[in-house]
Amino acid sequence: MDRISQSVVKKDHLSKISGRSIYVADYPPEGVLCGKLLHSTVARAKVKGVRLPPLPEGYTWVDARDVPGDNNVNIVLDDTPVYCRETVEYIGEPIGMLCGPDEAKVAALLSQCKVDYEPLEPVLDLDRVFEEEFETGYQEQAYLEPQGMMAEPEEGGKMFVHGSVQCAYYVQGAVMRALGAAPGGVHVLQDVTGGGFGGKEAFPSILGCQVAVAAHKTGQKVRCVFDRREDMEYTSKRHPSLCRYKIAVKDGKVTAIDCDVVFNAGAYSTLSAVVLQRGIIAAPGVYNIPNVHVSGRALKTNTSPCGAYRGFGAPQTFFAVERMMDHVAQALGVDEIEFKAAHLVKQGDLTSTQGRYHFPVPLSAQLEEVDKLCSLREKHRLYAQPQTGRYRRGMGFSWYFHGAGFTGSGERDLIKAVAKLHKYADGTVEVLASNGDIGQGVRTTFPKIVAHELNLPLEKVYYNHPDTARVPDSGPTVASRSLMVVGELLRRAAIHLREIWADGQEQEVEEHFKEPDFMIPFYLDKFQGDAYPTYAWAVNAIEVEVDTLTGLTKILGAYGSFDVGTPVDYNIVMGQMEGGYLQGIGHASIEKMDYDAKGRIRNNSFSDYLIPTTLDVPKLECVLHVEQYPDGPYGAKGAGELPLVGATAAYVSAVEQALGAARHPLNKAPFVAEDVLAELGKEVN
Ligand code: MOS
Repeated sequence: MDRISQSVVKKDHLSKISGRSIYVADYPPEGVLCGKLLHSTVARAKVKGVRLPPLPEGYTWVDARDVPGDNNVNIVLDDTPVYCRETVEYIGEPIGMLCGPDEAKVAALLSQCKVDYEPLEPVLDLDRVFEEEFETGYQEQAYLEPQGMMAEPEEGGKMFVHGSVQCAYYVQGAVMRALGAAPGGVHVLQDVTGGGFGGKEAFPSILGCQVAVAAHKTGQKVRCVFDRREDMEYTSKRHPSLCRYKIAVKDGKVTAIDCDVVFNAGAYSTLSAVVLQRGIIAAPGVYNIPNVHVSGRALKTNTSPCGAYRGFGAPQTFFAVERMMDHVAQALGVDEIEFKAAHLVKQGDLTSTQGRYHFPVPLSAQLEEVDKLCSLREKHRLYAQPQTGRYRRGMGFSWYFHGAGFTGSGERDLIKAVAKLHKYADGTVEVLASNGDIGQGVRTTFPKIVAHELNLPLEKVYYNHPDTARVPDSGPTVASRSLMVVGELLRRAAIHLREIWADGQEQEVEEHFKEPDFMIPFYLDKFQGDAYPTYAWAVNAIEVEVDTLTGLTKILGAYGSFDVGTPVDYNIVMGQMEGGYLQGIGHASIEKMDYDAKGRIRNNSFSDYLIPTTLDVPKLECVLHVEQYPDGPYGAKGAGELPLVGATAAYVSAVEQALGAARHPLNKAPFVAEDVLAELGKEVN
């Protein structure tokens, strides 16, 4: 194993497991106003007025009229308000915030606030006019720590905002706009963050604006921390999708594919445009098909706005394309795995956006690795035979990529990442970057890279939680980009510092992102070029046993080969692979979330929305396949999102085999026990 891959103890390990880490909810309450949001209780209505109870001294109501700058949260498009405009557009939309010193009193007063609504007809569902379709559901990030933000007015009219965030500079940009402030007037700190998984990519910008406006009005510190129910009902989750695929086959080969991708965006667009981009780019899967046509839309409905969740649009379309290829193979009477293998892309082939796969595509080798782990081919053939009896088995399979880093030209044109190293006179080195540690380990891996190049012990290099007042903008903590892009800037900065190192002196070095020379420039207007510099690759296989009496499915084993390039710390990367795979298995098998006829999310607690617990972890065997990427640190590529993306297709194809593919072509995820029973019920009728 490379020296850089050898595992170290994570820098924040002790403070987190000992309970000493200070999350946003842990700052002492003295002098902090508790803010609670008044959420809309209807999916679509004109807000005619809000009737407030008499507010005691020290209690303040805050709404859109108090926004000193622009009542729009800076995300991608300008449609998400800080506080609602004349209408509310989903159940949960923040109408205003009540702030006061005593939390229980704020809650009591909030319950006495009455909103006069003039009801409007809500739109909840996607239009359904399709022939062959594949459907995936919501998925809730279920981070341990709920959303929470705090705003503190500072000397000279400045605003300090901090909390549970992935992207400190996104929040800063949004708060500046809402307050009408200059860059120096707002700074944002990432507090210790108990998980994000995409759920804290854009949402903290909204909540950050809301607490900042409240702090601006009251002149006091304001903190708003969501309870689990608010978090599950009202914050962003994975987009439900409906994909219609058509495939043309001639002489056993696929000659054309036509994909129509529809995402349910919810009431405001937030990140939907960019989530959809990643989804449609992945729509033809890992196959070289001569004719490709993809269309995609994210539709507005009067439901909670959807957003980023690990995988960012790709799990939806990979589910569709993998299932579609399986079904075409079945219709042709050929083995699914061999059929897919005959269409696999290879190095040098065109991507769906007329870019190139510049580097080797290791999927064939990874298939062999997984085959060794679980006898994939043999069991897949065995379970394809008709089965009777109460317990029936299936072996499912998927392969896929994850584009490493930002989609398209974002890194080059928008982010323009800068990272710095600051060396103190005592020889310690501080990493200055804006990427938050959300559990994925950058507080450890960034210093590890720098210590490696400077030949320093790891204790001599540290990385604090980023505060935009102190660190350059190295971009957001998203898109599996932090280690690959910013880690490489830090590696280069460390080499530079090594070259100019002067004992006893304070020194600073800075590195700027430069797009690799090999890239075919991406143009958003044509939607052509290299959407990603490189790709992470994976093969998944899942073996199940279905109990046809209860509908419950037991996972006998989940296997994966993951190529994320060189692991910059083996344990950290393995933790990512296993954790992400498990989230994907949850999405495939038990995590079901839906709204009722009024547009209210029904699954708003961990007893109504089941995620895998430690007791649900199946036999999980992951191996790393290393295909080095020359422009990532030591050959590392994007790692964070890859392991989640392929589980739905592998799991649902396994259940399909167990039930008998010929009679039960399955095309939706999650596929829960009730779905199994509904399928089996069709046999009786
Ligand atoms: Mo991520 S799902 O790119 O925050």
